Amino acid sequence: MKLLKPLVATVLLALPFVTLAELTERQAKLLAHNCVQCHARAATGAPGMGHAENWKTRDSTGEDKLLRSVIEGLGGMPPLGYCAACTEADLRAMIRTVAGLEGAQ
Ligand code: HEC
Repeated sequence: MKLLKPLVATVLLALPFVTLAELTERQAKLLAHNCVQCHARAATGAPGMGHAENWKTRDSTGEDKLLRSVIEGLGGMPPLGYCAACTEADLRAMIRTVAGLEGAQ
C-alpha cells in the first residue's frame, strides 16, 4: 500500500496539465482508477484530460449538465463513469479536473 500513493501521484502528474489541488487524496485515487482509464486514452473516444479543444463545446453546457452526463452515462461512458464509490461532491471535483474547468466551486 505504501507504493499506491506515489503511484497514483505519478500517474496523474504524468499528465502535466492536471491540477490536483482541488482533489482530496481519496478523490485523486478514484479519478486515477476510474476516469483516467478512458479520459487519458484517445482511442476510447473520451474527451482527453487537458485537451482543451475536446472540451470547448462540452464546457459551455455547464457543470450541472456534465454531472448529469456522468451520473446517467453518455455514449461510451458508463453510468457514474464506473465509479460506484463516488459521491456527487466527488464527481463534481473530478469533472472539474477532467474537463479543466477553472475556479468553479
Ligand atoms: C469507459 C470509459 C469512461 C470512463 C471510465 C469515464 N468516462 Fe467520461 N466519457 C467517456 C466517453 C467515451 C465520453 C464521450 C461521450 C459522448 O460524448 O458520446 C465521456 C464524456 C465525459 C464528460 C462530458 C459529458 C458531456 O456532457 O459532454 C465528462 C464530464 C466526463 N466524461 C467525466 C468523467 C468522469 C468524472 C469520470 C470518472 C468518474 C469518467 N468520465 C469516466 C468515457 C469514459
